[in-house]
Amino acid sequence: MDLQLPSSDQVMDAAQATLCDTFQRDFLCCRRVGSLLWKELEHQLTLQPSFALSILQKTINHPACQKYPPSLQYRRLFLSELIKKHERTGAEPLDDLYSALAEVLNSEDTAVCYKSYCLPTGDLVTLSENVAIISEGTTGLVTWEAALFLAEWAIENNDIFNNRTILELGSGVGLTGLVICKSCSPKKYTFSDCHQKVLQQLTENIRRNGFLLSEEPSVTRENPKTVLSVTELDWESATEQQLLNLDADVVIASDVVYDPEIVTSFSKVLKKLFHYTRAGTNLQVFVASTIRNPETYRLFQTTLDDTGLRWQVLPDQKRNIFAYDKNCTVQILKLTLKV
Ligand SMILES: C[S@@+](CC[C@H](N)C(=O)[O-])C[C@H]1O[C@@H](n2cnc3c(N)ncnc32)[C@H](O)[C@@H]1O
Repeated sequence: MDLQLPSSDQVMDAAQATLCDTFQRDFLCCRRVGSLLWKELEHQLTLQPSFALSILQKTINHPACQKYPPSLQYRRLFLSELIKKHERTGAEPLDDLYSALAEVLNSEDTAVCYKSYCLPTGDLVTLSENVAIISEGTTGLVTWEAALFLAEWAIENNDIFNNRTILELGSGVGLTGLVICKSCSPKKYTFSDCHQKVLQQLTENIRRNGFLLSEEPSVTRENPKTVLSVTELDWESATEQQLLNLDADVVIASDVVYDPEIVTSFSKVLKKLFHYTRAGTNLQVFVASTIRNPETYRLFQTTLDDTGLRWQVLPDQKRNIFAYDKNCTVQILKLTLKV
């Protein structure tokens, strides 16, 4: 007769299951190693040292990590910390932890890494992102906090996006749009940016998440109702015809107010959008910004005033879906045309 030992999953209690889920969510999107719930883990390890294997299973051995791994440095730091916490319990060493570390130490580093963001449905959005915040002369190759904030807000305000034609300005690697396409069933979603490398990585990310683009044979695999496209759109040179063709009902952007030099062109393109879409004054525009430099943010608001756009700060929201710095100040402005 086979002796069936219970797996660590089977003997997990509710607190351990929640901790495993939190570690999974935080690890897959590469939340800073220092800000993971190590204290809570230490407590669980004193009760059951083999719980470290359940954490290993949900992180390094997770199928998403196996297929689309976070950066080598991140995995190395994470495993070193996990091993350290386990060693502190004084229990027998766990071979699986050391084998996982050896595998990571023997792997080659790459400039591109993957981050997977867990949605409330259990689905994942997996993006290839660069390790450096600024690379190839752009800020667009990583996901910024306001993108996560706006995506959370979209999930909570599904009706604004459902069955609508959405245009996203300065999409970067595509987090917000992919969350909206997976969670809010828009009719059409156009991602846009001005940077060639960003557009290329964005396109790959869209396909990586099971979507096809509108020029491809059948519209989407993931959600056949949504038509997705990627377009090169530079706020400096966007033409009336280009904006008319996009014909958006809803326009969104995140973390694009970071440099006083682009505030003017961004505000101008927003104003043009009110004039050159069929939705006209009914166009809904939402801009999410992390307020890092209050002066730049004030400049954006006064530029909007001068351009003839009215802005209203939307009420703050709970940030409980994605893992990111909850202390950073992020605001969403809803814009309308001054009449
Ligand atoms: C800080 S990143 C934010 C990316 C993404 N929205 C996010 O929040 O993760 C700013 C983005 O705006 C784009 N951008 C900057 N100037 C632009 C312009 N004149 N026209 C179009 N996109 C622009 C950049 O290429 C970059 O992808």
